[in-house]
Amino acid sequence: MSRQKIVAGNWKMNKSLKDAKSLVEMILSNTKDSDVLKIIIPPFPYLEPVKQILSARKGFYLGAQNCHTNTSGAFTGEVSANMLQSVGCQYVIIGHSERRNYFKEKSTDFVLKIREALKHDIIPIYCIGETLEERKNGYHFSVITEQLTSILSEFKLEDFSRFVLAYEPVWAIGTGETATAAQAQEMHAFIRSVLCDFYDSAIAGNTPILYGGSCNAQNARELFQCPDVDGGLIGGASLNEDFCTIIGSF
Ligand code: PGA
Repeated sequence: MSRQKIVAGNWKMNKSLKDAKSLVEMILSNTKDSDVLKIIIPPFPYLEPVKQILSARKGFYLGAQNCHTNTSGAFTGEVSANMLQSVGCQYVIIGHSERRNYFKEKSTDFVLKIREALKHDIIPIYCIGETLEERKNGYHFSVITEQLTSILSEFKLEDFSRFVLAYEPVWAIGTGETATAAQAQEMHAFIRSVLCDFYDSAIAGNTPILYGGSCNAQNARELFQCPDVDGGLIGGASLNEDFCTIIGSF
C-alpha cells in the first residue's frame, strides 16, 4: 500500500450491536473529511451492519480482526477471508499480540492467513511487537527482526507492497503505558531499515507503519509527528469520542 495517514480502530470483543451502530454514527458525525484513511474494525457479527452505515461516507473502510488459514470447509467457529470479502471488508489484522499470546498463533499461521487475505483483495495489517521482558533484556530489535523476516521471506515484493504494518509493543497494549515518541520513532525507523535490507529503499519508504499501544487523544499528536509513524492502530480509545480526536491529530 502506498504510504499515507491511517487511523484504525480495533474494537476487539466489545459492544452490543446497538452500541456498535451508535458508535459508528457518532464517529461519522464527529469526523471531518480529510486525507486520513480511517478503518473501523468491529467484531465479526457487526461487520455487515457497520458497513451499511460506513458506505455512505468517503475515507472510511471496514476491517476484520482475524481470518482463517483456509478458504472454506469444516472449521466450526471460524471465518475465512473469502467471507470477509463478501461482506465488503478491505482490511484484516494479522499477528496481533493477543492472537499470538492467547491463541498461540505463529508465523506459519500468519503466512497462510496473509496469503488468504491477499488472494481475496484484503489488505493485511500485520502486527509486530516485543514484550517488556524482551525490551528490558535488550532483545527488542532482534524480536522485531524475527517477526518481520519470518513473514517477508514468504512474500515477494509485489505482495508485500500491499501490506500495512503496525508496531505494537506488547507492554503498551491496554496498559496505559505508551511508548514515548522517541521509542516509537526509533523502532519505526529500524523497521524501515529491515525492509530496505530485505527488499529495497523504495518499499521501505512506501510502507505505512502504524503505532499501537495505549495511543490516545492526549498522546496521538506527538506520536503522529514522528517522521516514520504514519498513524495508529487504536484499541481502547477507538470505543469512544477519543477516536475522533485521534483522527484529527496529524
Ligand atoms: P490499546 O490496544 O490501544 O487498547 O492499547 C491497541 C491494540 O491492541 O491494537
